[in-house]
Amino acid sequence: MQKNTEKEKDIILNVKRLKKHFPIHKGVFRHVAGYVKAVDGVDFFIKKGETLGLVGESGSGKTTLGRCIVRLYDPTEGVVEFHQNGGVKNLSNLKRREMNVIRRDIQMLYQDPNSSLDPRMRIGDIITEPLKIHRIGSPKQYKERAKELITMVGLKPHQLNMYPHQFSGGQRQRIGVARALSLSPELIICDEPVSALDVSVQAQVLNLLSDLQDEMKLTYLFIAHDLSVVEYISERVMVMYLGKLVEIASSEKIYKNPGHPYTEALLGAISKHEPGVFRRYILEGSIPDPSDPPPGCVFHTRCPYIKEICRNIVPALKEVKDGAGSFVACHRSDVLGLKGYN
Ligand SMILES: Nc1ncnc2c1ncn2[C@@H]1O[C@H](COP(=O)(O)OP(=O)(O)O)[C@@H](O)[C@H]1O
Ligand SMILES: [Mg+2]
Repeated sequence: MQKNTEKEKDIILNVKRLKKHFPIHKGVFRHVAGYVKAVDGVDFFIKKGETLGLVGESGSGKTTLGRCIVRLYDPTEGVVEFHQNGGVKNLSNLKRREMNVIRRDIQMLYQDPNSSLDPRMRIGDIITEPLKIHRIGSPKQYKERAKELITMVGLKPHQLNMYPHQFSGGQRQRIGVARALSLSPELIICDEPVSALDVSVQAQVLNLLSDLQDEMKLTYLFIAHDLSVVEYISERVMVMYLGKLVEIASSEKIYKNPGHPYTEALLGAISKHEPGVFRRYILEGSIPDPSDPPPGCVFHTRCPYIKEICRNIVPALKEVKDGAGSFVACHRSDVLGLKGYN
């Protein structure tokens, strides 16, 4: 184990040059005909106790990135440093047994509470299953822990004997949260946890997540495709497009003063004052094929501000000189004066 440097003291996760390329198999002999570059060289860090939002259209690689962190997928390349108790471990090449120990500390919360909860299991068993898998505690302790967990997420102990179908969508996601909390993790990768819920219920689940974060000093990587959900919960936001991060900035900056044309386009698709009304420039076309990404800037095929350089040269994700720790990958960011939504 390496020691933390002073600068890394408040960092929990540091991801460097992360790639996940899925092979495409073709023909009778299933030879590899190419690769889907779902995550294609991503660098970022998460600070302890913060919520880092991750947004981008469907297919941009958000879920794959989350799954690489918890090693549900083995990354093709790159480093995922997890900082804990003053030390650092690279999760991307950790042996399975060691990784299983770390899995207690990094949990995943899924989008669809219907398919992630086993319909034949009682709630009490569902939420304490991780304890059993990791062989922590005794049956008596499972019962106690189940009561604690169900209360934490705003449900009642008598509901522990019920089955998932007896609950509403919002309640089922609360059960998903209880399960994710059962091992007292430090980091939770929330993969669109409210996307499948009615708008009226979304805020309740987001409130719950943010209360639990304060109480338990949790850190979240919060994935969403909707910028308005992320704004509500995140301190900083990352924007992903076709396997690459195109912008990282504080929530406030992203909304007031976006640095990347793709971020501006995502903001243009929502309106604070007229929900459902599309304003300004709306993204046309769809996300290109990630097995054959465009050369130069990956966004150039849909960008309204394109110049020759954008077709040929890949823009690096560079720190913006605003002293606020923002990063943008755009050749023309400085001259564009992009608009936020206010
Ligand atoms: N297991 C897989 N095998 C092959 N391709 C995959 C797999 N999972 C995702 N992909 C592809 O990777 C790209 C990114 O997908 P995903 O990470 O699910 O994006 P998002 O969560 O942003 O919608 C998509 O083109 C998707 O089809
Ligand atoms: Mg996804």
